Amino acid sequence: MSRVYIIVAIDRKRAIGFEGKLLFHLPDDMKRFKALTTGNTVIMGRKTFESLPKGALPNRRNIVLTKNPTAKYPEAEVFSSLEKAIENCKTDEKVFIIGGASVYEKALPLVDELCITEIDDFAPNADTFFPTLSTGEWIEKSREEHLADEKNHWTFAFVNYIRKK
Ligand SMILES: NC(=O)c1ccc[n+]([C@@H]2O[C@H](COP(=O)([O-])OP(=O)(O)OC[C@H]3O[C@@H](n4cnc5c(N)ncnc54)[C@H](OP(=O)(O)O)[C@@H]3O)[C@@H](O)[C@H]2O)c1
Repeated sequence: MSRVYIIVAIDRKRAIGFEGKLLFHLPDDMKRFKALTTGNTVIMGRKTFESLPKGALPNRRNIVLTKNPTAKYPEAEVFSSLEKAIENCKTDEKVFIIGGASVYEKALPLVDELCITEIDDFAPNADTFFPTLSTGEWIEKSREEHLADEKNHWTFAFVNYIRKK
């Protein structure tokens, strides 16, 4: 099977979105997201795809999940289930699950590594949340702390977790 990762930015309450949009603008997180996913495959739910300002992400294989059998999106492939999408990826393909909440929920039991940007704040309004990780199931593999600065207005950490064997 291809190597599958979850990539997500969460706040202290695990919030990830509000009214179809992201909660925090962190240019350094955007840069890291781009660096990790470029040249690889991204899988996302239909609502996350529709929230992308310029449509499909460039220089990546874009896969959109929807139950709508007639859906078509420019520069993206459409699958009706996460399992079918992952089965369609080659063994040497690096696959990033990029949200939203419903897709993270489905993907969590299938992935071996989580790339989480942990933002040290609460969003005032949020309606979409990342699932709670089961205690003892994940081990912190690496942590890179970043202080707020003039471009990134929140303190955050890039934290990678791997599944406990
Ligand atoms: N903080 C972050 O890192 C991050 C990352 C991504 C997204 N977000 C935020 O999350 C929010 C969107 O998340 P969401 O949970 O509302 O929506 P979503 O997961 O992006 O999209 C949900 C839709 O995707 C399709 N879908 C999901 N799972 C499927 C499956 N297993 N098989 C087939 N189709 C499936 C369905 O589309 P149909 O209804 O067409 O069948 C479903 O209605 C936005 O606010 C966005 O900004 C945050």
